[in-house]
Amino acid sequence: MKLRDIQRLLQAEMLSGTEIQLEKDIASACSSDLMSDVLAFSRSGHVLLTGLANVQSIRTANITGAKAVVYVRGKKPDAEALELAKLKDIPVLTTRCMMYEACGLLYQNGLLGVSLLENVQPSAEVRDYNSFSRSFEIAGRNFSRGGSVSTTIKDIFEDIGIDSAIIRRTTTAAYEAEMNVVMYAERGEMIVHVTPDLVHLQLRDEGPGIPDIGLAMQEGYSTATPEMRERGFGAGMGLPNIKKNADRFEIFSEVGKGTRLEIYFDLHPVRKNEA
Ligand SMILES: Nc1ncnc2c1ncn2[C@@H]1O[C@H](COP(=O)(O)OP(=O)(O)OP(=O)(O)O)[C@@H](O)[C@H]1O
Ligand SMILES: [Mg+2]
Repeated sequence: MKLRDIQRLLQAEMLSGTEIQLEKDIASACSSDLMSDVLAFSRSGHVLLTGLANVQSIRTANITGAKAVVYVRGKKPDAEALELAKLKDIPVLTTRCMMYEACGLLYQNGLLGVSLLENVQPSAEVRDYNSFSRSFEIAGRNFSRGGSVSTTIKDIFEDIGIDSAIIRRTTTAAYEAEMNVVMYAERGEMIVHVTPDLVHLQLRDEGPGIPDIGLAMQEGYSTATPEMRERGFGAGMGLPNIKKNADRFEIFSEVGKGTRLEIYFDLHPVRKNEA
C-alpha cells in the first residue's frame, strides 16, 4: 500500500512531507502509544500509528525505520517533534479517526500487522569498517533530550556504512538503554566502540541501581512512574528487548551506585562460523 492510499483511507492531513513521499510503499503498520512496544514489535518499513504526540514518537519512528507517522484522534505533534520529523525526512500525517477505526480501515484494505508478515529477518551484509570509539554524555531526567544520543549514533552508523539490519538492532538497544538512564538515573554515558568485527555499546550510569536484576529482566516488570508512562515508556520491555537484539548482553548493578550494561553485536557472524 502507498502512503497516498493511507492518507486517502484515513482522510488524513499531511503536516510535513512532500507529494513524492506519498508514493512510498508501506509494508506494514504498527499502532501503539507505548514506544517500547513499537521498539519491540515493529518491522522496518512500517507506518507508525500513535496518539503520542511528543518527540519520542519521532525518535522511535526514526530508530525503527518507520516510513511515516500518522497521529490519530486529531492529535498533532509538538513543535520539537515536527522539527525532528522534518530533519529526518519522515512524513507526518494526522487523522480524526480513533486508533481503532484507523487500524480497522487500513487492515480491511490489506495492510498487515507484523504477526502475519513472513517471519524472515533480513540478513546482514558483510562489510568492512575502520575502528572508532566515542563517548556520549546522557543527562538523567531530561525527557526532551532523551533518545538524542541514539539518534546521533544511528546517523554515524549510516555514514560509515553499517548494514541496515544491524543498525536497527544496535540503535534499538541503544535507545532502550539510553531511555533507562534518562528515566532512572541522575546521569550516565554511552561509549560506542566499533571494530571491523563488532559493535560494542557500554552504558554506565550514576543512579539508584537495580536491586533484583532477574526481576528487572522479566517482560512487563516496570517501576516507571505515571509521568514516564504518559511519555510512552514503562511497558517493562526495554531490558528484554536489548537482550533480544544483542548477540551478547551483560548487566551489572550496585544499589545506591549505578548500573552498567555491556551490549555486543557481531558484524561478521558468517565469517565467525566459518572459522
Ligand atoms: N539504569 C537503570 N537504573 C535503575 N533501574 C533501572 C535501570 N534500567 C532499568 N531499571 C529498572 O528495571 C526495570 C525494567 O526496565 P525495562 O527497561 O525493562 O522496563 P521499563 O524501563 O520500566 O519500561 P520500558 O523500557 O518498556 O519503557 C525498570 O522499571 C527499573 O525499575
Ligand atoms: Mg526501559
